[in-house]
Amino acid sequence: MIVFRQLFEPESSTYTYLLGCRQTGDCLLIDPVVETIDRDLSAIQDLGLTLAMTLETHIHADHVSSSCRLRALTGCKVAYPAMEGPPCADVGVSEDQLVSLGGIVLRPLFTPGHTDTHHSYLMEAGPILQVFTGDALLIDGCGRTDFQNGSAETLYRSVREKLFTLPDDTLVYPAHDYEHRHVSTIAQERERNPRLGGGKSIENFLEIMANLKLPYPEKMDVAVPANLRCGDCGSNAPEELDQRGGKTKQG
Ligand code: FE2
Repeated sequence: MIVFRQLFEPESSTYTYLLGCRQTGDCLLIDPVVETIDRDLSAIQDLGLTLAMTLETHIHADHVSSSCRLRALTGCKVAYPAMEGPPCADVGVSEDQLVSLGGIVLRPLFTPGHTDTHHSYLMEAGPILQVFTGDALLIDGCGRTDFQNGSAETLYRSVREKLFTLPDDTLVYPAHDYEHRHVSTIAQERERNPRLGGGKSIENFLEIMANLKLPYPEKMDVAVPANLRCGDCGSNAPEELDQRGGKTKQG
């Protein structure tokens, strides 16, 4: 049996996903956030699970990961996309290799465009697939493509060719939602995502992304360097973030 929790961090509107294997008692966290580390550890304890791994979809610009702190506290492994290759990571994931933890099996899908090393994770347990799409595909939206070697053209191809080709009823769990939505499906996003769905051509998408007029991410100058060090256990990054405040949309 697989244990599933969708956990929310309100300041950056980030979803962290807890996946646990009841048989082995191990669990992993996808995209854990430093501000909610105590909440996440309590959830794991309440479920009677042991944290074995943290897994990042990408280097986040809007929040600091709690991965290295969780490793210090629990001894878990820290996994990042291998092509990002931060020296602090214990495990590099890529499309070549499934991520297995007890009965949990995740298939990494290389979905660049929001960042150039972004990965989504497809869980194939049970009759209905679930895909953790990071910031590649959000509900009725997508992550921005104007920083971190992002590319709208690349994101269009990632979503249309790799995510929208999944089965219709695949559940879509994004890394963010700013309007309290929790889950979508591939069919729904393919049909009605206002940026990428329906009959949107690549020209339509490039025009939309070029005209978003999003502000500079307030936390990026702190969060990106920290996350390249797995959340930067050696600094006072969370306090710096508190002082900077603000809320960054679009991942
Ligand atoms: Fe992001």
